[in-house]
Amino acid sequence: MKKIIVAIDGHSSCGKSTMAKSLARSVGYVYVDTGAMYRAVTLFAMRRGLFAADGSVDAAALEALMPEVKVDFVLDPESGLPLVRLGGEIVEREIRSLEVSSHVSPVAALPFVRTAMTHAQQAMGREKGLVMDGRDIGTVVFPNAELKIFVTASAEVRAQRRFDELQAKGMPADYADILRNVQERDYIDSHREVAPLRQADDALLLDNSHLTRDEQQAWLLERFKEKTAEA
Ligand code: DC
Repeated sequence: MKKIIVAIDGHSSCGKSTMAKSLARSVGYVYVDTGAMYRAVTLFAMRRGLFAADGSVDAAALEALMPEVKVDFVLDPESGLPLVRLGGEIVEREIRSLEVSSHVSPVAALPFVRTAMTHAQQAMGREKGLVMDGRDIGTVVFPNAELKIFVTASAEVRAQRRFDELQAKGMPADYADILRNVQERDYIDSHREVAPLRQADDALLLDNSHLTRDEQQAWLLERFKEKTAEA
């Protein structure tokens, strides 16, 4: 069967990565979480002290340091899932903190960061057989992806999910802070100049506010089967 590219875009914390991972596992495709790549660049900038107290990032300093920013993935032999690395160090846990979440949007808005990440992502898709999730996968990274999904859910539902996730991992979480962070990120992600979050004209819309994981999984697998049957 011909391999395709599946692009899953949408708002933050709406279960894109859960959907994408699960589809990749059931059809034997590679899964790539592009948000993890922007988070890893943000962690790099935090470690180098490139953020001012007001949350802005020293773009010129980060640009000069970009040759040192090595972001890639390594397969976890246990789960079979890719783990993001920064300079060879696995940083999966560090990049999920609220601190990284609240610093990532200005970094993801920098054109030189986007160019570097977009090129790396396109290289991963050369062989197809890929499920990639992010904000601009169907619009910028793979405008010719065979299957494009745009996922959304209400901000409150998404904040609750993120809160539950952090609590389950024993990480500090405050619902009001998380909701504010979700709303702020929606705004910045949709209003930035480069590659803003928007639904591609040919993407299928999925609002999963009231769907169970199994229901959305079944829906996605059906769409995948339709596309691969056509391809
Ligand atoms: O999906 P996430 O919450 O891990 O994404 C982290 C941040 O990275 C979020 O603010 C949006 C940004 N991002 C992006 O601009 N483009 C992508 N393809 C993926 C994520």
